[in-house]
Amino acid sequence: MSRWRADFPGLDQVINGKELIYLDNAATTQKPEAVLAAVDYAQRIDCSNVHRGVHALSLRATASFEEARRKMARFINASSSEEVIFVRGATEAINLVAHSWGDTNIKRGDKVLVTELDHHSNIVPWQLVCERVGAQVEWVPVLMNGTLDLKVAHEILSSGEVKIFAFGHVSNALGTINPVQEMVAMAHEFGALALVDGAQASPHIAIDVEDLGADFYALSGHKMYGPSGIGVLWGKIEHLAGMPPWQGGGDMIRSVSIEGTTFAEPPFRFEAGTPNVAGAIGLGAASVFIEEAGLSAIAEHEALLVNKAAESLAEIKGVRLMGEKSKRVGAVSFVIDGVHPHDVGTLLDQEGIAVRTGHHCAQPLMDRLGIPATVRASFGLYNTLEEIDSLQAGVEKVVGVFA
Ligand code: ALA
Repeated sequence: MSRWRADFPGLDQVINGKELIYLDNAATTQKPEAVLAAVDYAQRIDCSNVHRGVHALSLRATASFEEARRKMARFINASSSEEVIFVRGATEAINLVAHSWGDTNIKRGDKVLVTELDHHSNIVPWQLVCERVGAQVEWVPVLMNGTLDLKVAHEILSSGEVKIFAFGHVSNALGTINPVQEMVAMAHEFGALALVDGAQASPHIAIDVEDLGADFYALSGHKMYGPSGIGVLWGKIEHLAGMPPWQGGGDMIRSVSIEGTTFAEPPFRFEAGTPNVAGAIGLGAASVFIEEAGLSAIAEHEALLVNKAAESLAEIKGVRLMGEKSKRVGAVSFVIDGVHPHDVGTLLDQEGIAVRTGHHCAQPLMDRLGIPATVRASFGLYNTLEEIDSLQAGVEKVVGVFA
């Protein structure tokens, strides 16, 4: 049993006549009572716009919103909450950097380095900026064991033409943990910045942006037990201070006149319009929930789940695991010979088991692995070893149906 399970009301339901077994946590996590209550309070009681009013409700909402920013700064060990920008999610965080920093600093003939292991959200924004300015996207290949070929990364970076190296902390499709510090150091050695997509890391691994040494770090609230539609872009203040706004509107200006506009300091320069106030407050509550659960206790529990899932699935005839077992967190991806992953997902749903099937928005990775799709079981702190037994039994049943 997981000691955290009772905090999540969404888990307590019956699907297709069976107790729900929720193994689609890499897509989105269920929300604990503490997050639901924080969002509810922000909407029901403290409902007001932020940074704009002198009345009591607006002051309370502003205080809670800025407190949430400080909680997120603490959660990722940022040196200042000025470095924490609230965005819609990791995708928007990366688009913000690609537009604001990228359009200013990437020039014709430059290179941007991405990886075949990455989610489309950390590929497409870079393809777009390269198209806009006439630069080129270069790729770090993924090896069949699910890890990156860092020799190639080194070769490409050593040309000195790469402006930014963008990569994930943890692969959404395979669960592979990348050696972030080594990759950041490699980028910096050759004069490139490093952006890390931490969407799949933040619910599983303690994040210390100072220690990782990257220039930008992106995360999504809904993958770390927080609400959807909210996330964080962290950036070193020396980069943020020199970056132009991406979107224009209210709350991001210093003054506006007919002659022109001057802009607020970070983080407000990058938060045009009314923000997702309740979402940010809910995300702050999620970060406290994770801190109180303790990332080392979470990691210990989830390692049991991942290892048991990998071992028990590997025992089933016809099942092939994707990626390397030893460097994985949060997810196990597999295929069953002769059975389409969508059929596996549909049959598992009949057992009340929710998994994700498809290319996981990581088509370059699927191309490299030579498969169109996988079945992915992904774990959260509330999953149990008994649920892994049910997953194994469910997959065995699917194999039996198609035998
Ligand atoms: N990025 C999410 C996933 O991997 C949606 O499922």
